[in-house]
Amino acid sequence: MTQRYTITTPIYYVNGAPHLGHAYTSVAADVIARWHRLDGAEVFFLTGTDEHGQKVEQAALSAGVDPQAFVDRVSADFRDLAVAMNVSFDDFIRTTEPRHLRACEALWRRLEAAGQIYLGAYAGWYATRDESFYGEDELVLRADGVRVAPSGAPVEWVTEPSYFFRLSEWQDRLLAHYEAHPDFIGPPGRRNEVLSFVRQGLRDLSISRTSFRWGVPVPGDPDHVIYVWWDALVNYITALGYPDETAELWRFWPADLHLVGKEIIRFHAVFWPAFLMAAGLPPPLRVFANGWWTADGEKMSKSIGNVVDPRALAAEFGVDAVRYFLLREVPFGGDGDFSRRALISRLNVELANDLGNLAQRTLSQVARNCDGRLPHRGPVTEDDAALLAQAELLPERLRALVERQALHEMLEEVWRVIRVSNGYIDRQAPWALKKTDPPRMAAVLRVLADVLRQVATVLLPFMPDSMGRMLDQLGVPEDARRLASLAAPLPAGLPLPPPQGIFPRHVEPAATSGQVPW
Ligand code: MSP
Repeated sequence: MTQRYTITTPIYYVNGAPHLGHAYTSVAADVIARWHRLDGAEVFFLTGTDEHGQKVEQAALSAGVDPQAFVDRVSADFRDLAVAMNVSFDDFIRTTEPRHLRACEALWRRLEAAGQIYLGAYAGWYATRDESFYGEDELVLRADGVRVAPSGAPVEWVTEPSYFFRLSEWQDRLLAHYEAHPDFIGPPGRRNEVLSFVRQGLRDLSISRTSFRWGVPVPGDPDHVIYVWWDALVNYITALGYPDETAELWRFWPADLHLVGKEIIRFHAVFWPAFLMAAGLPPPLRVFANGWWTADGEKMSKSIGNVVDPRALAAEFGVDAVRYFLLREVPFGGDGDFSRRALISRLNVELANDLGNLAQRTLSQVARNCDGRLPHRGPVTEDDAALLAQAELLPERLRALVERQALHEMLEEVWRVIRVSNGYIDRQAPWALKKTDPPRMAAVLRVLADVLRQVATVLLPFMPDSMGRMLDQLGVPEDARRLASLAAPLPAGLPLPPPQGIFPRHVEPAATSGQVPW
């Protein structure tokens, strides 16, 4: 039976231009989605934009445009970013679409019918910048004596009628759920954080506002709009056809994985499963939080002027080098720091040198010395067998790592095999065998071609374009680019196209000082 796999990114706020942080979650989700496709699963990969709320309304206002025109423009820019980063989403949802309004309305009414929503009055500290309410005890004192949100955002005291969700009733059931499903939240540090938050006790959640208009109207009470986070979370089921549970796509619920940034884990691992359970729907199977990127050691911000534009990087270094860097530079789940120097170093050392040269050396010798045809496997020596065994283990090892979203470890495993291969080619020195033992030369090149095929196949999810080109050069047909096809050897004698370098080394334009700009 074909496995199904459902993965989502957060939907991005459209109050500003997309940057590297947004590209990060999407690229990581893309790697996981592509991995599961490579492994034969039927995948549904969802991304999109979060278009309601006061923050967006204010951004439109200060841009002097009507909110709908504003969100249309910014949403298109996020979509363009996803396409530019080669993110293979199956659907791009926008929360201003009619299908989403329908889903929100249906879920709201279902919760209301279940007695989970009531009208009360809200009084508390609200930070528009975070679109979040804070308790008295959560505020922090800024150096100038002003009390602000833990994020540093200004807060205002708000009193207004509001609908509430009975979150307080869900504490025990949430804790029981975490207990019964130890893998529900990752990485472990985030799980502990969520557990202690829930153990402290949950208050009912204010889920509507009356102070602005840009949102989904509360069904039956249009003076209220639905709290933007409530509306946003519903996107995950809207896209699968909710409320039509007979929809073709509904079989993709529950999601296997919600990938989110670390600051929004609470919404996904506490509020969202509570809404779903209260509506009698199954919660997602796992929520994993990634860390944050800084740029040259500082938080990216428009005022500092250090916001990293992933599309500019992709245009300069190639999209695959940027994808590789993002996933290799920091352990997935932890925080990372972007610097141009670090990106160039990974591109030149790991991509151009370790991998690119290995392929180029192997394929150019096949072209020159084997008549451009894939050689036969010769009698397998101990050295050959040791290398081949490591390469053949890659799919199984990586499969175990992707389950824990250990994307950096996946790359480390592959690079271990690449380094062993570089040692092998130096030891075996096929260029010298050319004179002394041509059949052995051919056998060595065939081992290397087989190892490269394994490597390029398991790296396809990370670097789809360049690994696709490498597989072209290795003569692997399109329909054999799957993990399941790796067991079948390519036929000896297969004519290979002339080899071409895949990762050109990046040489900084000779700056007057000879220094890398940052
Ligand atoms: N709209 C909400 C999510 C709703 S999901 C139902 C939201 N949007 S956001 O645009 O502010 O953030 C979207 C994602 O981008 C989050 O996962 C966030 O962690 C990520 N990033 C934004 N800046 C980032 C960095 N500097 N570094 C890494 N990721 C960051 O929250």
